Amino acid sequence: MSSDNIVRHESRVDRRQREAQNRHYGLTIWFTGLSGSGKSTLSVALEERLAAMGCRTYRLDGDNVRTGLCRDLEFSPEDRIENIRRIGEVAGLFRDAGIINLTAFISPYRQDRDMARALADEGDFVEVFVNAPLAVCEARDPKGLYAKARAGNIPNFTGISAPYEPPEYPEVVVNTDTSTIDECVDHVVEYLVTNGYIDADRQASA
Ligand code: ADX
Repeated sequence: MSSDNIVRHESRVDRRQREAQNRHYGLTIWFTGLSGSGKSTLSVALEERLAAMGCRTYRLDGDNVRTGLCRDLEFSPEDRIENIRRIGEVAGLFRDAGIINLTAFISPYRQDRDMARALADEGDFVEVFVNAPLAVCEARDPKGLYAKARAGNIPNFTGISAPYEPPEYPEVVVNTDTSTIDECVDHVVEYLVTNGYIDADRQASA
């Protein structure tokens, strides 16, 4: 690779200007958790809430991204690392665009999540641990994948035949087995408001 011969070309509109237009910072809200823990559901609900507050948002989701940007990747440790590396980079582009991006990937390895975090400036990466016991996720089994994995038909299935490393210091933890979706969304919004990312009284039309 000849990155020696690559020279960045700067824009005349910068991130701060885009953020000023949006009236909020570019930010990544990184959901992590087991399959079936509720990452996609929560990210959809949170995005809807933020959009209603007039925030500019974009959602990146494992099952969607894996049909396009990451369609060449499977679920080996190497491919998962590459999956999260790419998402970390894309999330960085969205931060630069001044957009609140919500990512919903199992992202099972702590090191990979930390790599994605390391690309962000201090405070621009909010890790949300979507915590639900494996037994609960398995009982939900919304896509029937746990049953297939237990039957030995899906190799490297997270929680069954591949590891999941819970975050040690997530900014937010939501317990989807004991809280409703709305309560979990409230919890994340409260974090964002308390920490000055968005104003509580933001209105879409303001
Ligand atoms: S990650 O580990 O690389 O972060 P990602 O979030 O993109 O995973 O994709 C996970 C989704 O792929 C799951 O929700 C599930 O629908 C599907 N899937 C298919 N095979 C596997 C597998 N072996 N392990 C986990 N999820 C899988």
